[in-house]
Amino acid sequence: MRTEPILVSRRNMLFAAAAVPAAGLLSSCNTAGAARRRPEHDGTTPHQTEGPFYRLFSTARDTLREPGLQGTELDVTGRVLDKRGRPLANTLLDFWHCDAAGVYDVRGYKLRGHQFTDAEGRFKLATIEPGVYPGRTRHIHVKVQPAGDDTPSTPRQLNLTTQLYFPGDPGNAKDGLFDDALLMAIDRDGARLQARFDFVLDLG
Ligand SMILES: [Fe+2]
Repeated sequence: MRTEPILVSRRNMLFAAAAVPAAGLLSSCNTAGAARRRPEHDGTTPHQTEGPFYRLFSTARDTLREPGLQGTELDVTGRVLDKRGRPLANTLLDFWHCDAAGVYDVRGYKLRGHQFTDAEGRFKLATIEPGVYPGRTRHIHVKVQPAGDDTPSTPRQLNLTTQLYFPGDPGNAKDGLFDDALLMAIDRDGARLQARFDFVLDLG
């Protein structure tokens, strides 16, 4: 059974993993003019840089919508799977993104929250469509950390830090970090946007 101390341990692992390439993170939310990178993928979800606005100890919640928050409602659903397609239950997903005006909350936890997958590896995030941060295309940040990744001996690369993108966004073609392997599938026909993305982790 997972308790708060384990959660803190896993989140400290996230911090440790993120802290190593700090020099490379500082500019990752503004990549105008950067070379487009198109790494070959093996079917696993590509890693991307964390950016400068991650905050430890986000609230445990699957809805980031709150009274007074402006923006188009967006639900993101999906699963976390291993390379064989097996669901990864109790996987930590820590989401954060800017508001509809392109501003990150760096003092509080607006539009930040973490949750855990269910027994079938499913998650559901209720949020708003992020705006456009200067120099970037529209994106959502996320850290994914599988259960069992709680020991210091666990290889750091088992944790995934990445970003999700929006199909058809005009900024995609100009963004140096954009990777079409990280495009969500989005249905814009309903009352709110419905997005879907499945994470595939390389657990060795
Ligand atoms: Fe960002």
